[in-house]
Formats: sequence, structure tokens, C-alpha cells
Amino acid sequence: RPPEPAAMVIFGASGDLTARKLVPALYDLAAARRLPMGFAVVGVSRTKMSHEQFRQRLRGSLERHRAGGFSEEVWESFSRSIFYLPGDSRRPETYGELRGLLERLDAGRGTGGNRIFYLASSPSLFSPTVERLGEAGMSREGGGSYVRLVVEKPFGRDLESARRLNADLLRHFREDQIYRIDHYLGKETVQNILALRFANGIFEPVWNQHYVDHVQITVAEDIGIEGRGAFYEEAGALRDIVQNHMMQLLCLTAMEPPVAFDAEPVRDEKVKVLSAVRPIPEERVEEVAVRGQYGSGWIWGEEVRAYREEEGVAPDSATETYAALKLYVDNWRWAGVPFYVRTGKRLPKKVTEIAIRFKPTPHTPFARAAGAEPNVLVIRIQPEEGVSLKIGAKIPGSGFEVGSVNMDLLYGTAFLEEVPEAYQRLLLDLMLGDATLFIRADEAEAAWSILDPVLRAWSGAEDVPVYPAGSWGPAEADDLLRRDGRGWRRP
Ligand code: BG6
Repeated sequence: RPPEPAAMVIFGASGDLTARKLVPALYDLAAARRLPMGFAVVGVSRTKMSHEQFRQRLRGSLERHRAGGFSEEVWESFSRSIFYLPGDSRRPETYGELRGLLERLDAGRGTGGNRIFYLASSPSLFSPTVERLGEAGMSREGGGSYVRLVVEKPFGRDLESARRLNADLLRHFREDQIYRIDHYLGKETVQNILALRFANGIFEPVWNQHYVDHVQITVAEDIGIEGRGAFYEEAGALRDIVQNHMMQLLCLTAMEPPVAFDAEPVRDEKVKVLSAVRPIPEERVEEVAVRGQYGSGWIWGEEVRAYREEEGVAPDSATETYAALKLYVDNWRWAGVPFYVRTGKRLPKKVTEIAIRFKPTPHTPFARAAGAEPNVLVIRIQPEEGVSLKIGAKIPGSGFEVGSVNMDLLYGTAFLEEVPEAYQRLLLDLMLGDATLFIRADEAEAAWSILDPVLRAWSGAEDVPVYPAGSWGPAEADDLLRRDGRGWRRP
């Protein structure tokens, strides 16, 4: 079913996200003819620009960033749906002008009075924008059948600010109007975690503490902070990646089967996982959490500078660019099974994966099975999307030697369909009113409450262990697992 006509207003439209992610995703939807018949994008930001200048700017970045090429024909029709309004989102006048423009678009482009307000601006503007929308009477009524609000990350910077932000949003919008984004949920392979678990009969029976020894979740990046020094100094790895993307991966891996793949049942199950995560007492953070900051080093044969030498970063910065945690999900299924999660910038490669390590067999009848490791099921989110299962197999030859081999499913060869970008999927769901892949208020808060003690314990720190760029993180992270008689994978 095609989405209803709508106008999408993007606040913070001169920023990176609009040019790099949102507009390319809309362009792809236009190319695939998935946009509604009556559709318009309205960019709002303080930069003075005409509609045409805004279009040219987006065109430039589409040509640069779109891997799949650029079609003059698609652009020709899509660009006619792009508009721009210069204005300060803190000032009431902006909303009078916005309302006027939206009404003209309803009449001229048939956008049907449906409104999507997309907060892609600096997070400090989220609350004021919503407040102004509310005061202007635009949060509930557009003359169509819906008004929706999209909130980009970061959603707060700790539990308290997330609660405050939720309260600010909920003063003017109902929860069912609010779509909090975590782009990981738009990734095909992230959704495939649920397909793997709940569309197959063979995994669920072993997906528990009887069979699983431990779980490792890795979000490794080889890039540094890419010119986002000022932002990253305020964020750090815990806020930037762990609170959102990693907690989502944890939820999807650990949750109980939802009754249906719908917004409420799925999100109910995720919240149950987050509430079952064993709280980390602030005074014991050191025992279960490790942070690090990259020093200078080598990535893919190229010398790179240390975090503290990056632009916009304080020379004595204690911001973490690496974080590793040991978590427990204290429930019937997962009692006693550690979930080790880690993320970092300037690690040797970009790889996101979930590795389920199973317990060894109770007895080995073969004398020479030393080469065989226990089974590991690896869900590779990116790159080389797929699933692989490490199994023990007889090494050909006389005697009976057992070694480990991989059974591999490669997404790219198993399916011929093109894998859509995360934002493409999310923007379409948003227009269709499907909130399954968006974060609910209680979910965001539950994720923060797990990390709050860690944030507090780390906030006063003056020094952070340094790891060389191009390594797998600080030695302390290895100790975290070694103390349990385990080791990190080297994907
Ligand atoms: C973003 C973070 O949310 O996710 C970035 O702010 C990070 O720091 C990015 O690089 C990673 O996303 P992906 O899709 O490349 O894994």
C-alpha cells in the first residue's frame, strides 16, 4: 500500500544528515516510486537560501554520496517536491511562515494536510522546536489524517535529560505520533536477527543459558571522528554508539519472541530485556566497564593522528573513543550468561557482528580434537552481511583429527534484491505509520538507566587508557574477558 500524501518538514536542513542520509533516501524512494503521489520536503534552517539554491546543494551532495548513481530523470521530478524556508526554529514567526507554506503545498502539490516534522537539528533545539510547534497549534492538527514527529539521535545525554526531553515532547505530541530514530534498526541485517531467531525452528531451543556460554557484540569502526570533534567531545563512545545501536543489538539478540511483528509487542519485549539488565553499581563500574582513547597509529597502511590531536578536541581530552562492557540479562533465559559488548573508533576494520558462543560438548571421544573450538554462530551485520556457524569437522586423512570450519550464508549471494539503505526503510515506515522499528519513550529511558552509573563514574576522569590507532583497543579490555577465562574474537 502506498503511503498517504504528506509534507515532511526537516528542521536543521542545512546539516550533514539531510544531505548525506535523508535526501538520498527520499531520492531512492522516488526512484523506486515508493513516495506518495502528493509529496513535499520542506527544509528549515537559519541559512539564507532560495528553494532553488537548496535544491542545487542537495543535488551536489547526491551526486557525491550516492553509490547507486544519479539519474537526471529521477532528479527532475523529485527535485520539484523540494522546498526551503529560511528561519530560526526558536522564533514563533518561523511557524507562521511555515504554516503558510504548508497550506500552499497542500493546495498546490496535494500533500493532503498530513505533516511529518523531522528534528534533525542540533539537539539543543529539539525542545524549543516542539514547544513552538505546540504553541502554534501545529502538533495536533494539519488538516489531514496525521501529524508525526521524528526525533534524531542523540536522544538526551543521560537518563535525566532523556526523561526531560520525553516530557517536553509529550506535552505537545502523543507517544503514538513520535518516531525516535535509531538507524541500526533500519538495517536489513539487524532485522534479520529476528528472522533468524523466530523464523527458524532450530535456533530457539538452544538460544538460552543451557547452551550459550556467552555473547559478544562488536561495533568496530576504522574511521576516526571525521571532523566531528566538537560533537564527539560531548558524546564519547558510550553515548554515541552503546546507548542506542548496541543496546538495540542486545535487545534483538536477547528478547523473547514477540506475539506479532508490530510496534507494541516488539517494543514491549525489548523493554523487558533492558529492564532485566543487571544494574551496575557506580562503585563497581571498573570491574565491568573499560574505556579507551585512540592514540596515533596506522590504519590500512596510513599513519593517523591521535584523538587528542583531532580538530575541535581538547589536548587533554578524557573522552572515550572505545568502550567495552560486561552485562548480564538477569532473567530465566539468560541467567549467568555474560554479554560482552565493545565499540571503538580507529580499530583495525569496520565490522559489526553478534557472536553467540555455545558451550563445548560435555565429552570429546576423539583424541585429536584440540583444533576444534566450540560452536560459534556469528551474525554479521556489516560488511559482508551474512551468518556463519563455526562447526567441528573431521579433517580429511587417516586417523581422526577434528578441526573448525565455517558454514556461511552470504546475504549478497543468497538474495538478488538490492539491499536498501537503513534510512530508506525507516522513512517509508514513518510515512506508513509503522513504529515497529522506532524507539519508544520507555525504551530510550531504560537504555540510559543501564549506562547512567558508567557515565557518572567516567565523568570526573582525567585520564583514559590510550590504545594505538589500528589496534583492537586497550589492554584493559582484554583483561575484562581474560578474568573470565575468555577472549575477544578478532573478526
Ligand atoms: C552514528 C554515530 O550513529 O553511527 C557515528 O554517530 C558512527 O559515530 C555511525 O560512525 C555508525 O553507523 P554505521 O551505519 O556506519 O554503522
